[in-house]
Amino acid sequence: MSGRIISLVVVGILTLGTPGLAAQKGNLQQGKVLYVEYCLQCHGGRGEGWGWSNKIPPPPVPVPDLSDPELMKELSDQYLFDIIKGGGEAVGKTRLMPPAGRVISDEEIWDVVAYLRSLIRSVQGPNNK
Ligand code: HEC
Repeated sequence: MSGRIISLVVVGILTLGTPGLAAQKGNLQQGKVLYVEYCLQCHGGRGEGWGWSNKIPPPPVPVPDLSDPELMKELSDQYLFDIIKGGGEAVGKTRLMPPAGRVISDEEIWDVVAYLRSLIRSVQGPNNK
């Protein structure tokens, strides 16, 4: 009986999990540490966007709300990987979104992608209080 439940769960994960497969291979906890170090200053503690408490002026382009489910469902894991690794210019945006590829590894970038997925409102994660 319990074996059957386990295989049902496994099948469920395999079917439902497919769209998020790339993000799933990332390590969420590691991604959080990296996010705090490399992204938070511009994207906010919960991905909500600009929130500096210091006096530095915000960038001249809007900082997107990475916790917005409508926005994030349009962005594939590969797109997220590419913009984190190569910066805005790698995906046709501005260089105001800086590349992280020189300071963190590809594996770490997938960790950040996984963490970004956890920031989406209404999805299980830090925002889901
Ligand atoms: C110096 C500020 C800054 C830092 C640091 C920064 N970003 Fe950004 N990010 C931006 C800005 C500004 C944009 C919008 C760029 C544009 O529209 O040209 C952006 C865009 C993005 C987008 C694109 C969203 C979309 O709608 O296409 C993602 C995803 C993103 N950032 C994730 C990250 C992650 C993850 C990190 C950390 C590894 C990070 N950013 C670090 C400023 C920053």
